[in-house]
Amino acid sequence: NKGKYEHYMQKEIHEQPESLTTTMRGRLKRGGSTKAKTVLLGGLKDHIKSIRRSRRIVFIGCGTSYNAALAARPIIEELSGVPVTMEIASDLVDRQGPIYREDTAVFVSQSGETADTLLALEYALENGALCVGITNTVGSAIARNTHCGIHINAGCEIGVASTKAYTSQIVVMAMLALAIGDDAISSQARREAIIDGLFDLPNKVREVLKLDQEMKELAKLLIAEQSLLVFGRGYNFATALEGALKVKEVSLMHSEGMLAGEMKHGPLALVDENLPIIVIATRDACFSKQQSVIQQLHARKGRLIVVCSKGDVAAVCPGGSSSCRVIEVPQVEDCLQPVVNIIPLQLLAYHLTVLRGYNVDQPRNLAKSVTTQ
Ligand code: F6R
Repeated sequence: NKGKYEHYMQKEIHEQPESLTTTMRGRLKRGGSTKAKTVLLGGLKDHIKSIRRSRRIVFIGCGTSYNAALAARPIIEELSGVPVTMEIASDLVDRQGPIYREDTAVFVSQSGETADTLLALEYALENGALCVGITNTVGSAIARNTHCGIHINAGCEIGVASTKAYTSQIVVMAMLALAIGDDAISSQARREAIIDGLFDLPNKVREVLKLDQEMKELAKLLIAEQSLLVFGRGYNFATALEGALKVKEVSLMHSEGMLAGEMKHGPLALVDENLPIIVIATRDACFSKQQSVIQQLHARKGRLIVVCSKGDVAAVCPGGSSSCRVIEVPQVEDCLQPVVNIIPLQLLAYHLTVLRGYNVDQPRNLAKSVTTQ
């Protein structure tokens, strides 16, 4: 049932304040004046210690689910101190890459039925790793065959392009970081800031959804483009990959997400006055580096669209707001910013598709659950 919406993708994008609330329900404890704020993940309770002690955490997934894990990687590394590596499921299986008994392998999948991810799970089980599932589908193959796990609880997702599952997956993995991180005094303030940020996230998402009309206007400007680049780094490298994936899979416009740190190692050659480029430059430890990326693109007359924190227009537009288009988003705790930042890009992909006259809920050649290799 699409309710007041025309398409499932549109409904699922706008549902995110509620889906995020459901994902967190019963799992975060505010704590009183004397009690610390805590996270409870029932499905992991017997395994938290083993995860904490593992030699490495390996995230395994495909497409959007892989991107969600990539967004959460820095906070897991920061709070747990355990090295985190990333594997695209099919590539791990192709290479028969090393997976050890001392590893925790985390399988991220909305459907819980993706063939590539399931094969990687079989492989990791054979190699003796502790296998954790993060899925949105209770009773799915990945939920059943892993040793333990966390349900995403984002609610059923019908649009082929994953939207609300992505943001809920990031929140689940931020909670995982809090659960496996030690509660050393030195990290107490950071942990509390993240938990407060999680509580407030649905409000911030409600606020960023107000960009809907603005993103429709932007889509009108981009409707006839051949290609769109998206640059991000740090927490928002994943935002660049995921934003570009959304644009290409539904609007059928070529789009690539790129690590901004790699720009001068090749992609810079593409920059001219015609190719539209989205740069994610919200406030975090990488902000000044992104400012310099913007300057370099501006110097080559790049057609810039900058996603920045509210009030930062002057700091991100070298020539003032006439030189680039700016999308201002609410600022949240840095590790949660990818949840906010992806939303204007989801809206852009949605509007581009509708304006270009393509099927937004069932893109050409794609299936919701990829159960074949
Ligand atoms: C993109 C998309 C796909 C899936 C991928 C994995 O919008 O939905 O990239 O993310 O096929 O699917 P799951 O998460 O079900 O394993």
